[in-house]
Amino acid sequence: MSAATDPIKLMKQGVGKAAAELVQSGTIVGLGTGSTTAYAIQYIGERLKSGEIKDIVGIPTSFQAEVLAKQYGIPLTTLDAVDHIDVAIDGADEVDPQLNLIKGGGAAHTREKVVDSLAAKFIVVVDSGKLVEQLGSTFLLPVEVIPMALSPAMAAIKKLGGTPELRMGVKKAGPVITDQGNMVIDVKFDSIDNPAELEKNLNNIPGVLENGLFVGVTDVVLVGEVKDGKPVIREM
Ligand code: 5RP
Repeated sequence: MSAATDPIKLMKQGVGKAAAELVQSGTIVGLGTGSTTAYAIQYIGERLKSGEIKDIVGIPTSFQAEVLAKQYGIPLTTLDAVDHIDVAIDGADEVDPQLNLIKGGGAAHTREKVVDSLAAKFIVVVDSGKLVEQLGSTFLLPVEVIPMALSPAMAAIKKLGGTPELRMGVKKAGPVITDQGNMVIDVKFDSIDNPAELEKNLNNIPGVLENGLFVGVTDVVLVGEVKDGKPVIREM
């Protein structure tokens, strides 16, 4: 299958572009992480370059977002220099009917939660394969842990009913190391009945920095689908 007809790629491109079109001149934009948001960053950069929008500054949620923003000419700032974020655009690994999310497939959920939670409007961009009835049904829940607390944190996660697994690198021996120098435990829960409670309980474990449950943060979910070979975007 060519890249031009790969349905997943078409959905990601379409939804990334749709989110980028919502960015207005003179705004501070949270730039998410992942392959879908990468298209949003690209199209924001193209709109800036063409003069369609101006005076945008981005706040990246990861090293990846920072590199892409620089590549596509989006000026960057930090949370020390601004007192608000107008809009954040970010991907997700799962979205439930209440618009709660699991994030962290790219091990960036800690910074993503900081930026996405601060945004006046948080737009989630996903392909239709990310929609689930209940969180945790298709994706393990990522939990970022400081390295010295790995063993006790895993034991505490088991007591909460989870099955923890240290995330290992690809083309890198040993564990994945986050942008903050920590590790990620991916946790299987048989059923996440109360995401808000689990989010708090996990973050209460000493040594846990942040987990990938995003509860009550999302304002808009744009879903990309492919119909008759063409990307179609709908709002959830
Ligand atoms: C990174 C994330 C990503 O937003 C999430 O994994 C979705 O990525 P993609 O758009 O590549 O499917 O949470 O930590």
